[in-house]
Amino acid sequence: MGSFLVEGLSRVKGKINLAGDKSIAHRSVILSALSKGKTTIQNFPANADCISTINAFKKLGIKITGKLKLGVSGTVSVFGKGLWGLNKPKSPIFVADSGTTLRLLLGVLAGCDFKVKLIGGKSLSKRPMLRVTVPLRLMGARIRSQGQCASLPEGDKVSAQASPKGTMSQGKKEEYPPITIEGGNLKAITYRMPVASAQVKSAILLAGLYTDGTTKIIEPVKTRDHTERMLKLFRANIKVKGDKILIKGDRRLVSPQRIYIPGDISSASFFMVAASILPDSEILMRNVNLNPSRMGIVKVLKRMGADIKITMSPGHQATGAEPMGDILVRSSGLKATIVKKEEIPSLIDELPVLMVAACCARGKNIFEAVGELRVKETDRINSMVNNLRKMGADIQVTKSPGHQVTSKEHIVVKGKAELRGARVKSYGDHRTAMSMVVAALGAGGQTIIDDVSCINKSFPGFLATLNNLI
Ligand code: S3P
Repeated sequence: MGSFLVEGLSRVKGKINLAGDKSIAHRSVILSALSKGKTTIQNFPANADCISTINAFKKLGIKITGKLKLGVSGTVSVFGKGLWGLNKPKSPIFVADSGTTLRLLLGVLAGCDFKVKLIGGKSLSKRPMLRVTVPLRLMGARIRSQGQCASLPEGDKVSAQASPKGTMSQGKKEEYPPITIEGGNLKAITYRMPVASAQVKSAILLAGLYTDGTTKIIEPVKTRDHTERMLKLFRANIKVKGDKILIKGDRRLVSPQRIYIPGDISSASFFMVAASILPDSEILMRNVNLNPSRMGIVKVLKRMGADIKITMSPGHQATGAEPMGDILVRSSGLKATIVKKEEIPSLIDELPVLMVAACCARGKNIFEAVGELRVKETDRINSMVNNLRKMGADIQVTKSPGHQVTSKEHIVVKGKAELRGARVKSYGDHRTAMSMVVAALGAGGQTIIDDVSCINKSFPGFLATLNNLI
């Protein structure tokens, strides 16, 4: 798709149902494949990332049926073959740009005694993998990363001071896809995670299923717990005690036979911000996932004065181990807030659209320790700061004195500057593109976004859904 034009708009109104949550969908396919028998998954989101996970498991010999049309959520059936039922694929597995597919799959393949090469697309091939290869190697997996990081475009890079050259982690050289892994004979470990990452935690938990001991993970900050919930649903031996998660391996998974995936709260976040900043607006979103570890966006917007009402739906835990309910958002005048570093994992994917909300809020907003944004589908500090500045926003990147690591970078937004239409870029990143559509709706004049086809990665129905609300 070429460039996309958005006119500033006065209001959005209506009711929507969102496709199933992307994170839960990946996990539902993986655990269904690793249990025996048929699992039917409803409200499965037909986006590029989740289709990558389906394709990967098909390559590993799992039968998966159901017609999926990009952008239309559907029902899929996975015919699992048990923990030891995956087959060595005949050729490398291409996971496109889905980081969740790649990192979680590495956890599963660490337990399988065959060799596989995993290849990523252009953006995934620049994303750091050492955070996941370190613990999996400790468990016994043999891993080779063959890729070299293609250099990041330096052109319009935003940095607090000098940008860090080549991210290093734990004193080792960073690793990138393609990755070749040969698993089997894993041992349980105790692992204190240096980075708060649900993908890394999930990879270790999945590998933990293939050991005959107890794997213990200690998280620096609690991250989304969909894997823990779904492992419990599949009757794995898993316990969560504060910041520690313990999983005992060598027990077969039992499918719940049916899983309903509640709507994606990350997709909902774009409509929450649009309805908040546009006058005379009201959007009702039905059956959205209300997992407490994902509710940061709601908490922060409410703190900013957003008018958000939640109605929990009873009884749905049983079909997916996840709470869900309706979210009603009406326009409101927003005021600035400070988003603390402990809150970041609960809204990591919503930070770009929260920066848009901050531009429209009265006062000085601070987003603390947002460095992880540098290693998403694109460097989202760079993409959002450049774009919002072009629209007239007062937005700065600062760094805690004495800290060299990117996680100590903060974003400061002085709100209430009138945003004006401009030519902006998606940087090939779905969440940057959707956030800029929301910013453009709230701006005066016309905005042109260079390319919005990347939205298909998580939410192919975004523009059509938005059109129905206008
Ligand atoms: C995800 C975890 C987060 C998030 C990503 C999905 C998951 O990534 O940003 O979109 O499904 O586990 P990190 O684990 O890198 O923080």
